[in-house]
Amino acid sequence: MRYGHFDDEAREYVIETPHTPRPWINYLGNERFFSLVSHLSGGYSFYRDARLRRLTRYRYNNVPADAGGRYFYVNDGGDVWTPSWLPVKADLDRFEARHGLGYSVITGARGGLSVETVLFVPLGADAEVQKVTLTNTSAVAKRIQLFSFVEFCLWEAQDDQTNYQRNLSLAEVEVEPDGPHGSAIYHRTEYRERRDHYAVYAVNARAAGFDTDRDTFLGPWNGLGEAAVPRAGAAANSVASGWYPIGSHQLDITLAPGESAGYVFVLGYVQTPPDAKWAPADEAAGVRAGQLINRGPAHELLARFATTDQADAALAELREYWNGLLSRFCVASGEPRLDRMVNVWNQYQNMVTFNLSRSASYFETGIGRGMGFRDSNQDLLGFVHLVPERARERILDIAATQLADGSAYHQYQPLTKRGNDAIGSGFNDDPLWLILGVAAYLKETGDTGVLDEPVPFDNDPATAAPLFEHLTRSFEYTRTHCGPHGLPLIGRADWNDCLNLNCFSTEPGEPFQTTENKAGGVAESVFIAAMFVLIGREYAELAARRGLVAEAADAQAAVEAMRAAVLDHGWDGEWFLRAYDFFGEPVGTAAHPEGRIWIEPQGFAVMAGIGVDTDDPAAPEHAKSPAVRALDSVRSMLATPHGMVLQYPAYTSYHVELGEVSTYPPGYKENGGIFCHNNPWVIIAEALVGRGDRAFDYYRRISPAYREEISDVHAQEPYVYAQMIAGKEAPRHGEAKNSWLTGTAAWNFVAVSQYLLGVRPEYDGLVVDPRIGDEINTFTVTRTVRGATYVITVTAPAGVAGSRRLVVDGRPVEGHLVPYAAPGSTVRVEVTR
Ligand code: GLC
Ligand code: GLC
Repeated sequence: MRYGHFDDEAREYVIETPHTPRPWINYLGNERFFSLVSHLSGGYSFYRDARLRRLTRYRYNNVPADAGGRYFYVNDGGDVWTPSWLPVKADLDRFEARHGLGYSVITGARGGLSVETVLFVPLGADAEVQKVTLTNTSAVAKRIQLFSFVEFCLWEAQDDQTNYQRNLSLAEVEVEPDGPHGSAIYHRTEYRERRDHYAVYAVNARAAGFDTDRDTFLGPWNGLGEAAVPRAGAAANSVASGWYPIGSHQLDITLAPGESAGYVFVLGYVQTPPDAKWAPADEAAGVRAGQLINRGPAHELLARFATTDQADAALAELREYWNGLLSRFCVASGEPRLDRMVNVWNQYQNMVTFNLSRSASYFETGIGRGMGFRDSNQDLLGFVHLVPERARERILDIAATQLADGSAYHQYQPLTKRGNDAIGSGFNDDPLWLILGVAAYLKETGDTGVLDEPVPFDNDPATAAPLFEHLTRSFEYTRTHCGPHGLPLIGRADWNDCLNLNCFSTEPGEPFQTTENKAGGVAESVFIAAMFVLIGREYAELAARRGLVAEAADAQAAVEAMRAAVLDHGWDGEWFLRAYDFFGEPVGTAAHPEGRIWIEPQGFAVMAGIGVDTDDPAAPEHAKSPAVRALDSVRSMLATPHGMVLQYPAYTSYHVELGEVSTYPPGYKENGGIFCHNNPWVIIAEALVGRGDRAFDYYRRISPAYREEISDVHAQEPYVYAQMIAGKEAPRHGEAKNSWLTGTAAWNFVAVSQYLLGVRPEYDGLVVDPRIGDEINTFTVTRTVRGATYVITVTAPAGVAGSRRLVVDGRPVEGHLVPYAAPGSTVRVEVTR
């Protein structure tokens, strides 16, 4: 069943009921200020770093679910309710939550009053704007009290949840009932010492009262749903001193029948110059220097959103921004589920994963991981066409955390941009992803100058070397760290964080990824080998294009040697092996009862072209190429209606020699879950061997829009990918978890845009080679790249290469390459069978 619908025109998902299986969320903000907002108005805000600069509180893992958010309580003649349903949970006559691109609109109506809240983070502002419109739909005049509510976090989110002996005596606020733009509340905890930032929560009207002390606002023993002040219908004008600071304004509003009133609330992050932290002394008011914060920068912020017209204009600007971004790749296929994923939601999710890596979602608390090296490089693949300049900056940041030997810090902190020592390095897939990310950027932009940018190793300026040198070291690191079969050493783990072949942990709570109990591990990864073949080829091509002829030839030879090693030592008979363990035993073999076949090397090896040499899908069984056999094995052993599981059969007991993968109950996460990230590798592989129908079939199985009809089973948002869907061996098969922040987003966009629809930038032109199969008969892709626009009309795409005719601006061309045209031009491409 569904809980809402797509409004394709508005590019919104419209949730029609509060009662979805889980909170369904949206992200506000693209730059520095971010908010998470659920359809019930839950969530929180932070400035740049979800751990170190958390503005508001959210209670993860709590009951009732989704505890903490920005709320508006209505007291309508004694009837107290919240238009976002939570936290009061009074029945609503109407409820609707629209999640759009960088904004959400939550509307609730009850007793002849409708309250609409538009939430967004404007471009170029460190603030969440909440525009509230109340409409009296009844036949009688109404006198209403409206109470806003946010709860401040004491900045450091981890400390905020653990260190109460200090925190409960820290909180400080200032209240400005009659400021230049209405009423404001300032949260200034720790400002007296080293912080030069505070938060402001304001409304563009003179409030009838305020509260800043949570206990006063809620009343003793009450939860958010029973808040005392809204019930009393009168603010207490409480001033927090220690304990729990909040921001709440009371507005008294009179509405004639049919009348509406609009207000703008702003939750802002404000930084003051170090030498102007404080307001000057004001003897008349009895204020000494260094006592009151400098409110100037806050007033400037509030002045930008002092009227509803200003808020509307800022929202319009945000919409325009997204219109521009999304115009770079659009498809019109006549199949709404495909079009809305490609044109809107997949690209939108790519922006969010690019911004936040894996830090802050409803499953990631924002206090753990920073930016992942492999994660961020892969996120680039789906983002690079949106804002290439930001992709460039990100590449340089990531590369600066690489270590001099070519290995990489597994994570780095966004605020400091430094490698994270706690997790360190040794994930041996990491270095290669950098080459892939850079190659994607170069193909999109042609900006080869980036390869000459000086970039330090481990952030040490003395070691700066051209970016290209970083790629060389990535390549060389992998090449020179191979094991007995000539396959790359796996280290702590490869892409699969839970395949920990050198760990051997028997102590509960020990981290699988950083514990090494046995020295001298020679465990090898067939997956990294496949990466090396695919990405090494990219490296060789880059070297050749830089005129490094000998290096290119040498790299190509290493790639060929690795290809041979995979076929000699990485092939099990019907599929590719996954690895060799510490003892040199194969992992992912038919010889074992569990974990016989793993998905990652099947997809990636075929993507790399390993074993596709004898490619002929019509050949008899025994003559099929290894690639086709591997993919057929995936079909028979891993595919389910909900996507392809990671490995099969899942482990039913703990294997100390395999590590974390065997810790999950069968069917969850890496132990036989549908780990959506790797599904597109198989989709791409199927497209490459010419089976577009199959590729598109797999695409639909995990695509959220195609799963909308089973939202009760899927449980997560039908507009964004989730990291994991429970696999066939789990009791809750089909149920998704960990939505939003996943490499699934970038890779599915690559799969659908570059391989199914078949439009992908290469160095010398745009490849047009659609392989979506017969399901989609005709479509048009409009792609803007390097300043030119290509309007590509495809009829009868089928699933195979060859027998395709490409006509570019009326002239037939050989092959699949449409050379890049001059910036500003529009090129018409027709593809027919
Ligand atoms: C998580 C990690 C990612 C890893 C994947 C598989 O999504 O963020 O880095 O590749 O799990 O273990
Ligand atoms: C766990 C998860 C894995 C994730 C890792 C990150 O191992 O199973 O998906 O990548 O944590 O630390």
